Amino acid sequence: MTIADLNQRHAIASHIQFKEGPGRLTVAEIANAHASASIALQGAHLMTWQPKGQEPVIWLSKFAKFSPGKSIRGGVPVCWPWFGPHASDSKLPGHGYARTVMWEVLETRAMPDGSTFIRLGLIENDATRAQWPHPSSVQLEITAGPTLHMALITHNSGAQSFTLGEALHTYFHISDVARMTIHGLEGCDYMDKAGGASELRTQQGGIVITSEVDRVYMNTAADCLIEDRGLQRTIRIAKQGSQSTVVWNPWTAKADQMGDFGPEGHRGMVCVESANALGNVVSVAPGETHRMVVEYSVEALG
Ligand code: BG6
Repeated sequence: MTIADLNQRHAIASHIQFKEGPGRLTVAEIANAHASASIALQGAHLMTWQPKGQEPVIWLSKFAKFSPGKSIRGGVPVCWPWFGPHASDSKLPGHGYARTVMWEVLETRAMPDGSTFIRLGLIENDATRAQWPHPSSVQLEITAGPTLHMALITHNSGAQSFTLGEALHTYFHISDVARMTIHGLEGCDYMDKAGGASELRTQQGGIVITSEVDRVYMNTAADCLIEDRGLQRTIRIAKQGSQSTVVWNPWTAKADQMGDFGPEGHRGMVCVESANALGNVVSVAPGETHRMVVEYSVEALG
């Protein structure tokens, strides 16, 4: 669908319009009474969300590359239908294919409280069906307002159960990694993957990051709080239908290798991903719909 068609069907004055964005990607731009946000239709990839009067809550690399078929560094990549490497075929893309294929706009709405709602659906093709041979559909609902609400909805339309891994791989904007602590995972067991290892550990106290961190916390549904002493604010991450939380910061060497962080780019971000990964993958029965929901909000640091 062309941008003109998208605007004709789905634009709403003072809420949402469609534009050509960087790398010629089609982008839904939201600007309402509460916040601004932008979403690339490739990957249903939310790139920005900024409530009025706040610094951006979502981090997008200044060196992000925007091109067809490539995941964007920053924002909220949708990892689906598996998280991390594929369980049996290492040739398949890490974190699944949902973040690099086109999604379509199914619906937009102006909400009574002034927020803006958009619902997107992944467009299947022969390549996606070859990687995921399960009759199914996936949609992402985003409501951008004073809070950011996202629901990743998977439906099994086939006759067999399938096993689903997923994450909303959110990059949060922080003042400086040295001035933040993550709370909410105290006492949780996690798989420590930093440096390519795989070791089971237990979290003691809040999370302070001073080197590469790549951890999958398991069996945790609790809210996480990113306490940012530089910006004097706390980002609250509430979730439903998610039993894992991934915390990731590549630190200097890995970020330099990746090539799209920029010098010291890792200092201004942390990923806190609401997920179902490792032992928390979800079995979706025929006819069943699984929802994983997050809500992000910002509170002044007391
Ligand atoms: C995290 C993983 O979720 O995503 C890390 O735990 C990985 O191992 C990171 O490096 C980034 O992945 P990608 O594929 O977007 O570079």
